[in-house]
Amino acid sequence: MRTWIVAGNWKMNNTIAEAVALANAIKDGTASIKKGEVILAPPFTSLQSVSQTIKGSRVALAAQTMFYEDRGAFTGEVSPVMLKDIGCTHVLIGHSERRKYFHEKDADVNLKVKKALAAGLKPIMCVGETDEEREKNVTRAVVGRQVKEGLRGVDKIDNVVIAYEPVWAIGTGKVATPAQAQDVHAFIRAILREIYQDAAAGIRLLYGGSVTADNISELIAMEDIDGALVGGASLKADGFLGIIKNIAKQK
Ligand code: 13P
Repeated sequence: MRTWIVAGNWKMNNTIAEAVALANAIKDGTASIKKGEVILAPPFTSLQSVSQTIKGSRVALAAQTMFYEDRGAFTGEVSPVMLKDIGCTHVLIGHSERRKYFHEKDADVNLKVKKALAAGLKPIMCVGETDEEREKNVTRAVVGRQVKEGLRGVDKIDNVVIAYEPVWAIGTGKVATPAQAQDVHAFIRAILREIYQDAAAGIRLLYGGSVTADNISELIAMEDIDGALVGGASLKADGFLGIIKNIAKQK
């Protein structure tokens, strides 16, 4: 049985004071929910304060990206060792905004996934097609390539989480239908089964893209959707807690 995950990707939002207030509200609002995993991914500047805020609670901490070396002359970058040190258990890798604005390629994603695992962090590897790619009917080719290339050389899949985030659904209010999302999730699980056999059944696959408390229930009802990676709706405690509660009710 796969336990659900709800992760909030705050992206480039929140001052330290705002981050602490939001993290406190999520900590308090989830204290009575016994199952599942709740993860917050603040910007680097708030990791330390959020880490202290959620200490001893059921909320876990993720970074939004990392570099694939432990230390050295890489101005502006942050290493997995530093993320562990600050209290992160997870790290987002290859988010579509990293791919689009910072030119991360599948090969970079692969190096980062392997490095995160080696450092004892759980990577949440993000994949997803653009609007144009969906229209050209190459969704499976694109997502299949991202999954296979991202996991190249990864022998043990247990600590990897995969987030399917169709780029056309991110921040647009245009959520994938449950059938569209399930179709790609099942496709991803089939690829994992080819590579990792039985272990594929235990891997959590998250959907991301305009998730709200109103649309999550029908998405989470799908067999291969094990949780959500939430952007905009994770910036308000009520909205994010609503998503968590609706998932906890069903899974
Ligand atoms: P939205 O929920 O704002 O569409 O963002 C999704 C996302 O990119 C989460 O990583």
